[in-house]
Amino acid sequence: MLILPPTPEHIARAAETLAEGRLVAFPTETVYGLGGDARNEDAVCAIYAAKGRPAHNPLIVHVANGDMARYYGSFNRDAQILAAAFWPGPLTLVIPRRTDAPLTKTLCRLDTIALRVPAHPVAAALLANFGQGIAAPSANRSGRISPTKAAHVGEEFTENHPALAFILDGGACERGIESTVVACLGDGPRILRPGSITADAIGKHLPHLCEAATPDPASPLAPGQLESHYAPRLPVRLNAAAPRPGEAFLAFGPTDAHGPQMRNLSEQGNPEEAAAHLYDMLRILDTPEYSAIAVMPIPTDGIGAAINDRLRRAAALCEE
Ligand code: TXA
Ligand code: MG
Repeated sequence: MLILPPTPEHIARAAETLAEGRLVAFPTETVYGLGGDARNEDAVCAIYAAKGRPAHNPLIVHVANGDMARYYGSFNRDAQILAAAFWPGPLTLVIPRRTDAPLTKTLCRLDTIALRVPAHPVAAALLANFGQGIAAPSANRSGRISPTKAAHVGEEFTENHPALAFILDGGACERGIESTVVACLGDGPRILRPGSITADAIGKHLPHLCEAATPDPASPLAPGQLESHYAPRLPVRLNAAAPRPGEAFLAFGPTDAHGPQMRNLSEQGNPEEAAAHLYDMLRILDTPEYSAIAVMPIPTDGIGAAINDRLRRAAALCEE
């Protein structure tokens, strides 16, 4: 898979490629996205096909700024407050979709739309150049670990994929965990997916915020939340004090364990650093040499809530 540095020429080429209906993978501050023109049905279908993503799981549309977002959705007061506070940044707002939004029919299956204004300079430059919404889920095969480096995207789409033209390389994603998804609909603001922006930070702006409830399988609000997700190939064993023989070990905080089978998310016990390293280290340890990946407990406050959410999903298949 072709990986290109994000020069102005390559960003312009990426915008042209999107306009032709092909896909480009690009960096954001959270994870890499697999982008396609949100007005082009073939491009949107190609995203689903390339990821093997179930049709019921809707996509986020990335836009350049709040003004552009207003062409796609209706902002109530809560949505306006959050957009003003956190855009550009790792916040996705689920709001009522405008019926005249410039979106392909697949993106209009729900009467809501998920919107985000990314802060990463390469994503921002691509959106400014393209001038339209870019539909982009994380650039991984459905259910697998999200990519935080250009090479990870290459690992996900190894053969020359007909729809995916190239990957813009923006280095390692600074946040490393997906955006926080907040619904601002008629029934009050709700966190649908914990992410890079903490519930506390959002709650400072919206004191009436509801924490993510356990999703009801009968009426999934964020359909992607119900699946085993973010999963390495190896089983994941949570809250491990130490590795068992044959296991790889993902540590957090000071530890004496050393060796190729072990990585430390943050020796200082810093949760932001742990979030930035999580997916890269899971990928490194996910080799058939080991029987499982044992993960030390990680505190659940702040961004630790999102880290623990992802680890629970990574381990979900193993609990059955
Ligand atoms: O950080 C991120 O959000 C990354 C980067 C590339 O922007 N994107 C990302 O996209 O994580 P994806 O598709 O992997 O996750 C989007 C989540 C899914 O859980 C999906 O179900 C939910 O957002 N979602 C999208 N549209 C929705 C809607 N209208 N209502 C409820 N949930 C929605
Ligand atoms: Mg994803």
